Amino acid sequence: MVLEKMRHIEWKGDSLKILDQRKLPGKIEYAYLKDLEEFHQAIVEMKVRGAPLIGVVGAFAVAALAQEIDAKSKEEFLKEIEKGAEYILSTRPTAYNLKYCVNTVLKRISECEKIEDMRKVAVEEALKLFDMEKENSRKIGEYGEKLLNDGDTVLTHCNAGELATVAYGTALAPIRIACEKKKCIYVIVTETRPAQQGARLTSWELLKAKIPVTVVADTAVGYIMSKGMVDKVIVGADRITGEGYVFNKIGKYQIAVLAKKHNIPFYVAAPTSTFDTNIEHEKVVIEERSVDEIVFVGRKRVVARGVKVYNPVFDKTPPNLIDAIITEKGTLYPPFEKSISTLFSNQKL
Ligand code: MRU
Repeated sequence: MVLEKMRHIEWKGDSLKILDQRKLPGKIEYAYLKDLEEFHQAIVEMKVRGAPLIGVVGAFAVAALAQEIDAKSKEEFLKEIEKGAEYILSTRPTAYNLKYCVNTVLKRISECEKIEDMRKVAVEEALKLFDMEKENSRKIGEYGEKLLNDGDTVLTHCNAGELATVAYGTALAPIRIACEKKKCIYVIVTETRPAQQGARLTSWELLKAKIPVTVVADTAVGYIMSKGMVDKVIVGADRITGEGYVFNKIGKYQIAVLAKKHNIPFYVAAPTSTFDTNIEHEKVVIEERSVDEIVFVGRKRVVARGVKVYNPVFDKTPPNLIDAIITEKGTLYPPFEKSISTLFSNQKL
């Protein structure tokens, strides 16, 4: 993996080294996160982004905090660490991986008696989650690759690649593995307004991996589908409910509607750490970000002062628009309520 060599996320023993994704593709700049505020800022400002990656960063935030807390008793330590964990969870509300990873580290900490052990297991657990997400992405790639034929053109949205995970990606993992197996896969990526993860990040990643990629405006999707230029769609996910509702980057719902209209298979790729089987889809919070992301293109104001602007950054795709969900434990097919419930009742997650 090309980006793994660049180590876009690396635990350095007392801090987390991250590649600042806001600067890409123009600049390769790293940041070192040590105190809670630095972790919080890095996630809020999207120096790191993508559901699996922010999950792992959240785990390291708790691990780093565990080294800093000065407490006299287990109770005092737990109170402090839970407060810090809440602060990290408040950064981005839609992606479930953050909650999954932070809570996994908290649980492991709470099982210890001694404070020294709590500090130790916090780091161990964060490193375990790091390895697990990497392994999961590889497996998603292996299952998903089977859905791709030599010569396919795959449309993807946002960035669900290595940069959004520890390695391989989610939506990009099947494409990478298919290419490793010598299938020719062509990728079309939407620019993904307003933060332009497709234009800035996905195309850069694929260029580095020598996988042919073309960027299109978000508004070109209907046209290129109607011209027969897209064989399959694969996207990532930020949260998947037990009924199979998929929350992901804004714009993905309209791509799913268009794919259905043009009989193009629509696949979602996500690890099981993205599944939140305890929530009803109506209750999932859709993150809204600063309207400046829309008002300005670069430094140029494109919306007149005084105009109302709304900037939800995720949307919801209902299960009836999805053909398969690729996970590290296998590929799920409709009816998703049943296949998801079977997956979770058969697995100790
Ligand atoms: O706002 P972002 O850039 O964090 O959104 C990321 C996405 O929507 C990804 O597609 C999603 O997290 C799946 S990533 C493997």
